[in-house]
Amino acid sequence: MQTVKVALFSAEQDRSYPIHIGNGILERVDLLLPHLPQKRVAIVTNTTVAPFYLDRLRTALERHDVISNAIILPDGEDHKNWQTLNLIFDALLEQRCERKTTLIALGGGVIGDLTGFAAAAYLRGVPFIQIPTTLLAQVDSSVGGKTGINHPLGKNMIGAFYQPRVVLTDSATLNTLPDRELRAGIAEVIKYGLIRDAHFFTWLEQNMTRLIARDADILGKAIRRSCEIKAEIVAADEHESGVRSLLNLGHTFGHAIENAMGYGVWLHGEAVAAGTIMAAALSKQLEFISESDFERICGVFQMAGLPIIAPKLSPDDYLSLMKLDKKVEGGRVRFILLKRIGEAIMSHDVPALTLTETLLTCMANE
Ligand code: NAD
Ligand code: GLY
Repeated sequence: MQTVKVALFSAEQDRSYPIHIGNGILERVDLLLPHLPQKRVAIVTNTTVAPFYLDRLRTALERHDVISNAIILPDGEDHKNWQTLNLIFDALLEQRCERKTTLIALGGGVIGDLTGFAAAAYLRGVPFIQIPTTLLAQVDSSVGGKTGINHPLGKNMIGAFYQPRVVLTDSATLNTLPDRELRAGIAEVIKYGLIRDAHFFTWLEQNMTRLIARDADILGKAIRRSCEIKAEIVAADEHESGVRSLLNLGHTFGHAIENAMGYGVWLHGEAVAAGTIMAAALSKQLEFISESDFERICGVFQMAGLPIIAPKLSPDDYLSLMKLDKKVEGGRVRFILLKRIGEAIMSHDVPALTLTETLLTCMANE
């Protein structure tokens, strides 16, 4: 097992927390106990994840005298909304959960984002633990405290920054994950190489076949390096006033795709993949990256079996959806672009014509 620390210090308190990463550590309740103010938890999960992992976790908790309630939600991105959030509040109130009762998110990014938001709001804030079970959640959404829900007008538009007390990442849970979901998670892994670590990007090019084959050693290394990069960025800019924006490479375009196609039709990671290619194409058009770097970027997403062509919408539709992005300032979209492989920057200054031309080159014909 390895532990990556998210270092969060402020004048009032130390909110740093560990991310424990290992193969087969789901039942290591000893790693959770120091973070439980009361031996009582509510586990939030969904109808797909519960049959695989809920009983194992509850039995392990029981062995340490921790009482658990389960809240089992419907599965899917289209349930990441107010109605589902309210199901959590209904259950917490019915079960008389208290201020010291810890909410545990057991599932992918949808469960993590919903549970974290519920923990931020229930009784004005209760402790929260992440046990991520998709690759995407293990490398990205369980770390850093972004929580929230979608609005029909925009992705992740309602939420709160609310950090977990500990993240328990068991890479063995990925053995039950469908291939398409594994590939979607790889989109966020590639993102870390692109924005921060050229060596990691090259390593991914060399190891993509083993990553897709779920080689435990390669998966463990990819998860650890991704978490290290995310932890470093979150520690520097918890509330996204600067460098944290770089983690949104491909997301402004990607969120537009997810919204336009209907939540859940394109997986988040698939939309991020096609969105990253759009950001890379724009970076090439602005002469930041070379044609050969652009080809390498397309190549690594293709090796991962991810889409590199965005769905066809009019450039105006893309632009109006992109204006719903959280990075918009004074009505202007801010773009995350690549200066080179391993270095991202934020820019307001993309000429409208360049953007429209680039959008057209990245879209499907039909
Ligand atoms: P998801 O939560 O919908 O999970 C994908 C599917 O896999 C679901 O059907 C789920 O039930 C199933 N599943 C989960 N674990 C499984 C397992 N071990 N075995 C079998 N099936 C399993 O999707 P996701 O890709 O994990 O997360 C996407 C969400 O995360 C999006 O809503 C996105 O906006 C959000 N996100 C948040 C952050 C953040 O910082 N908070 C970052 C990135 C993405
Ligand atoms: N997934 C982007 C972030 O956490 O900032």
